[in-house]
Amino acid sequence: MANLPDGVRHLPGLLSPQAQAALVEDIRKVVEAAPLYVPAMPRTGKEMSVRMTNCGSLGWVTDKERGYRYQPTHPVTGQPWPPIPAALIAIWQEVAGYPHMPEACLVNFYSASARMGLHQDRDEADLLASVVSVSLGDDCLFRVGPPQRSAKTVSLRLQSGDVLVLGGEGRLAYHGVDRIYPDTSILLKNTGRISLTLRRVTKP
Ligand code: SIN
Ligand code: FE2
Repeated sequence: MANLPDGVRHLPGLLSPQAQAALVEDIRKVVEAAPLYVPAMPRTGKEMSVRMTNCGSLGWVTDKERGYRYQPTHPVTGQPWPPIPAALIAIWQEVAGYPHMPEACLVNFYSASARMGLHQDRDEADLLASVVSVSLGDDCLFRVGPPQRSAKTVSLRLQSGDVLVLGGEGRLAYHGVDRIYPDTSILLKNTGRISLTLRRVTKP
């Protein structure tokens, strides 16, 4: 097992296969109400390879003109984001170690060729709250390192039902997804991976 940076916790198989299947149904409904859209990098407008949507009172979005931010509505439909499913709230309450509710749940969909460059999650006002992410579907090669850009990173394989927590000294850990391992899970009908990232955005 890789030696994870301080404050980074990997909880393999926290969700049972039944819980994963139920969560996929919840997310299917979220995506019906708030369709996946193509996010673009600030300034360059370069399209990211993942498809995104959100649930919660705030959603994380990015586009060429206005960059990274949280907003209460979907950038394409203009509608409020649907609520965070109860099962995800329960996971947050179990692992976040934080007494207030999450406000945002970013839904990332990775096709076989999608990836996510190394970055920090730092668009939130309350860095005391952990970032909690749930993996569903195909395995991925996840990379994580301490909050210093030049520090050494470690790689681990995240599987469906795993939960990853970035908290405390690991709250600003660098992280990214180097690759998807297509067709390593039968949870989703088609090839791909979904990550669900819960965050507290505002100070309570
Ligand atoms: C993210 O950092 O936004 C996503 C991480 C993941 O896909 O697990
Ligand atoms: Fe992130």
